[in-house]
Amino acid sequence: MVKYVLPLTHPLLHVVDVSVTLSGLKILDNVSIGIPEGAVTGLIGPNGAGKTTVFNVISGFVQADSGQVRFDGTRLKHIKTHHLTSMGISRTLQGVGLFPSLTALDNVLLGGSAQVKSGIVADSLAMPWTDVEQRRLRERAYAVMEEMSILDVADRFPSELPYPVQKRVAMARALVSDPKVLLLDEPAGGIGAGDMADLARIIKSWVPNRTVLLVEHHMELVMDVCDLIWVLDAGTVIASGSPEQVRTDPAVLAAYLGEEED
Ligand SMILES: Nc1ncnc2c1ncn2[C@@H]1O[C@H](COP(=O)(O)OP(=O)(O)OP(=O)(O)O)[C@@H](O)[C@H]1O
Ligand SMILES: [Mg+2]
Repeated sequence: MVKYVLPLTHPLLHVVDVSVTLSGLKILDNVSIGIPEGAVTGLIGPNGAGKTTVFNVISGFVQADSGQVRFDGTRLKHIKTHHLTSMGISRTLQGVGLFPSLTALDNVLLGGSAQVKSGIVADSLAMPWTDVEQRRLRERAYAVMEEMSILDVADRFPSELPYPVQKRVAMARALVSDPKVLLLDEPAGGIGAGDMADLARIIKSWVPNRTVLLVEHHMELVMDVCDLIWVLDAGTVIASGSPEQVRTDPAVLAAYLGEEED
């Protein structure tokens, strides 16, 4: 079923004609990607296509040579991670990126620290927390850890947890700020079939309240959860459309030739 007709009339998040050069190499070349509100949008493509770089441009880690990112009609400029969180955009990193010396709970709390006036660092320096804010954040952390079925490991350190559980902690950290938009970079990387089915169920449960941009190599998951898919290859958009349209697109099949699905 074709749910979205391109170009989208009012994308919530809009990457517009973005080009990026890193170390003298053109990594993204005039990339435009629209992300509709309240849906799951996939961003797929072979290794090195530029998917993580798109996330890095949206989150301000990487500066575009030209083009812009618009959120809710407003251009994002000089974005810092904590600005992003307070605007309602949250991301997970490819891999896990947890702090090894913090418990699972403290890692999750960090994801909400932009919303309280003090943070975990201030806490360790014995600076005053605002009690109400702190209590609210903790309640929210417990709620998202329950949603991700990781409440039982709240006091464990990342190195004590199996990789798929670490991925759940990382996702809880992204969720704790109650984001409107979630950018997920390979959430199914390194997890098994059971966890993948759980992940599909969880992602579907978020919409239409949340908007999701999903980078993934697992095509089964992508085809199952996405309403709209963009395909990148070597820094350019080569296809877009519904899962059915993208699955049979000759340019997409050609780009994936020789690439093995994980
Ligand atoms: N800081 C950098 N300097 C130079 N090249 C870079 C830099 N970061 C990324 N690249 C290159 O940019 C290209 C796109 O990388 P990116 O990580 O965005 O790809 P990707 O689509 O996320 O790939 P994967 O599926 O393997 O995660 C790759 O060729 C990568 O080697
Ligand atoms: Mg990547």
